[in-house]
Amino acid sequence: MKKKAIQRDLLRWFETHKRDLPWRSRERDPYRVWLAEIMLQQTQVATVIPYFARWLARFPSLADLAVAPLDDVLKQWEGLGYYSRARNFHRAAQQVLAEYGGEIPNTIAGLLALPGIGPYTAGAIASLAFGLDAPILDGNVKRVWARLFALTEMDDAALWAISQQLLPTGRAGEFNEALMDLGATVCTPRSPKCAECPLQAHCLAYARGKPDAYPIKVTKAPTPHKDIGTLVLLNAHGQVLMGQRPNAGLLGGLWEFVSDEIGVSVTPEVPLFGEPDQIAKQVLRRLHLPVSLLDLSSLGTVKHAFTHFKITRHVVLAHCNAADGLLTVDPTVYQRLAWATRNEANQQALTRSDQKILALLNKQ
Ligand code: ADE
Repeated sequence: MKKKAIQRDLLRWFETHKRDLPWRSRERDPYRVWLAEIMLQQTQVATVIPYFARWLARFPSLADLAVAPLDDVLKQWEGLGYYSRARNFHRAAQQVLAEYGGEIPNTIAGLLALPGIGPYTAGAIASLAFGLDAPILDGNVKRVWARLFALTEMDDAALWAISQQLLPTGRAGEFNEALMDLGATVCTPRSPKCAECPLQAHCLAYARGKPDAYPIKVTKAPTPHKDIGTLVLLNAHGQVLMGQRPNAGLLGGLWEFVSDEIGVSVTPEVPLFGEPDQIAKQVLRRLHLPVSLLDLSSLGTVKHAFTHFKITRHVVLAHCNAADGLLTVDPTVYQRLAWATRNEANQQALTRSDQKILALLNKQ
């Protein structure tokens, strides 16, 4: 392997092609580096940029984050998805404050011990914020290695070993950022821009005339699909019934229009029990809410894709004459139920598809 030449060519390219990103500006503050890495774990750079700025305005330091209520933290994360990232980051900040006096650990082992930090994020923080010679490996880097070495097998341990072996001593941060930028802007999943690639001369996939063929694709099983019935239940004051999801699990701690699953299929579309009255009854039964409905209509459907499945929300609007007062609910279904004005619902940390449902309701 022409290790020195690969290092030199990539670092030289990076000098003139590095992306100017907010978390790369000024002195590398470990809290900002950490925040960026968490936000970037499953989200594109362009989406992260405004969230990153808003987050720092609300929680300028690790201590500000650690003392903030979880609801505020989730509200700042609203729309970014994968909310366990926000919950873990919040817990980790509290841990750093309590156990390390607010100093973010500057070792791989110390970083890995914090919630939400895996090997990639630990390597990125260690190299970018603390200048340690730590490697990184994510989907982008794997693709670069698969092409550079025309790999026919994607074995994680072997790929980590490549990241480790190619790392230039003392310049790991730059090298890792260069790899991130190469993967994001040149060695892209589709139509890689080989003519612009600083590693073209070293690339085996290019030499074989088929860079797109690497990494070798494995055919995936179709994504499962769930149909969710959702009830937008309005009382006589025009308030709507909202449920806060249990903290553990998918979208934990976020609020939603009360819902229940009405079917699972491999292909989307037409649930078997999709009539508005069926949906309303099923959701009320799940919540043990003995309210009588005054009218019912369909508000349409809202679709959303998660990593491992897709959902279609079938939204029903109903009025009822339920009394105000405390609502009890099975805590495995929702941790809380609350009647909220539309404005109040808008202030809650909502899931992405519930934001869309609120927009549908506001169009009524
Ligand atoms: N993806 C993950 N970490 C990143 C970073 N620091 N800069 C750009 N893209 C990234």
